[in-house]
Amino acid sequence: MKFAATLTTLLSLVITGAIAVPSHTTNVDAFDVDTLSRGNHFGAPQNPGRPGAKPGWYYGKHPHKHPKLPCLSGPICKILKKHPKHIQCPRPPPPKPTTTKTRSSTPSPTPTLPPAPPGYTATFTNATGATQADDYLTFGLVDTIEDCTAMCNTVEGCNFVNTYNDVNGKDGSTQLTCSLYTRCHTIADATNTGGQTQPDGSINFIRNSDGYCKRA
Ligand SMILES: *[C@@H]1O[C@H](CO)[C@@H](O)[C@H](O)[C@H]1NC(C)=O
Repeated sequence: MKFAATLTTLLSLVITGAIAVPSHTTNVDAFDVDTLSRGNHFGAPQNPGRPGAKPGWYYGKHPHKHPKLPCLSGPICKILKKHPKHIQCPRPPPPKPTTTKTRSSTPSPTPTLPPAPPGYTATFTNATGATQADDYLTFGLVDTIEDCTAMCNTVEGCNFVNTYNDVNGKDGSTQLTCSLYTRCHTIADATNTGGQTQPDGSINFIRNSDGYCKRA
């Protein structure tokens, strides 16, 4: 009991930012749980198309590359569980089956596009604009498109993801940007084509922008 009480005290200290959690994530010092509320767009109050917009979180395998962002893995997840209305860590995906592919009798045509992530349908791929719409929920950085749909699956009301490379943008990060929306969007709303002058004087542009709508 004494241990449990100590742990609770420790956690509340962590939550109030009084002390940092020693952990494998390097970014816990910068973590303030209150910025990750829905009202604050889960840490990214500005739509990614706005000048000066900053990602609210990172979800992927390289937390050390994003020391300034809350990384949605490790000890942060336990803290967030105590704040169920804030953003949550996705559950790790089930391990992929290791069955070997059976050869099909008809040769499949050369795929020109990567398959859509499970549970989602592509609405556009490889565009040079990012989605801009008023049903914006949040945006962060991820390693893969499936990391982004995993994030969407944890955010209540999320039905659409837009992933893209923001070249020269977001402090020069080469990580995939992942923005989440309530409604599904087509290429017609992919109107953020960059063009923002960055602190270092370079101008950003958008590549490999994909839209995926959650299947009902
Ligand atoms: C994606 O678009 C770029 C132009 O923006 C083009 O050069 C590239 O070949 C396209 N890739 C695919 C897989 O279609």
